[in-house]
Amino acid sequence: MNRLKDKIAIITGAAKGMGESDAILFAQEGASLILTDVDTKNLNKLAERLSAQGTKVLALQHDVASEQGWKKVAAEAEKSFGKVDILVNNAGIFNIAGVEATDLELWNKIISVNLTGAWLGMKYTVPLMRKAGAGSIVNIASVYGIIGTGTSAAYQAAKGAIRTLSKTAAVEFAPHKIRVNNISPGVIETPLLAGIGGEEVKQQLINLIPQKRMGKPEEAAYGVLYFASDESSYVTGAELVIDGGWIVP
Ligand SMILES: NC(=O)c1ccc[n+]([C@@H]2O[C@H](COP(=O)([O-])OP(=O)(O)OC[C@H]3O[C@@H](n4cnc5c(N)ncnc54)[C@H](O)[C@@H]3O)[C@@H](O)[C@H]2O)c1
Repeated sequence: MNRLKDKIAIITGAAKGMGESDAILFAQEGASLILTDVDTKNLNKLAERLSAQGTKVLALQHDVASEQGWKKVAAEAEKSFGKVDILVNNAGIFNIAGVEATDLELWNKIISVNLTGAWLGMKYTVPLMRKAGAGSIVNIASVYGIIGTGTSAAYQAAKGAIRTLSKTAAVEFAPHKIRVNNISPGVIETPLLAGIGGEEVKQQLINLIPQKRMGKPEEAAYGVLYFASDESSYVTGAELVIDGGWIVP
């Protein structure tokens, strides 16, 4: 129950889906939390629930694509907790549009939330991790950043790029005892899947997965917990695919 005892963790996109599961698991494991999201309604509900159970929680309205927003999150984190040990760059938006169907506005939006947001998160959180003397950053990529499906050009570009961003950051920050790893989930049952299509499309995806089911958000959260905790102290620049075997064959 104490895998994150005394740790201060920022989780972005924490109002729903995997971010919410990460927050619940991190709280169970003894972390104090800075939870951020654009969806303040669900975020505040979660924060109230976790606070009532005894977790120290700061809930902040935050657009990860905004540099000003990140400066504010870092300042609030420092004011409330004095340091940050863990950053989970989880916030993301999905869309289906191939190369030709993507216009510049959509491209910029998808890239700015899914990729620029993670870079800004590292840039503004690392100084607080240096203060703590160490840190762990977990970036949420995707199986869609490993394979090409022909369906989601900007999303797949962003998720592929976040994987190499994690690796170069792992090398850059290793001297400061800050580790950077990424998780690539497959199909996880969250509100994000509403954008993927109807039941028929979901079933087609499930048919591709050797385990013949979607993953649960908690199943991804345990991977995030491993990278976040000191149990992975000699692991940096690594990737963990959580996909029920989807991309093994
Ligand atoms: N669900 C899947 O199958 C799947 C698979 C692979 C990767 N992922 C990735 O996992 C992460 C979490 O996805 P999820 O399935 O839990 O999604 P979700 O849609 O259920 O939750 C994402 C959360 O991020 C928030 N968010 C969106 N834009 C934001 C912004 N600009 N700033 C701050 N918060 C913002 C949303 O309000 C929401 O609460 C994302 O990065 C996603 O791309 C999901």
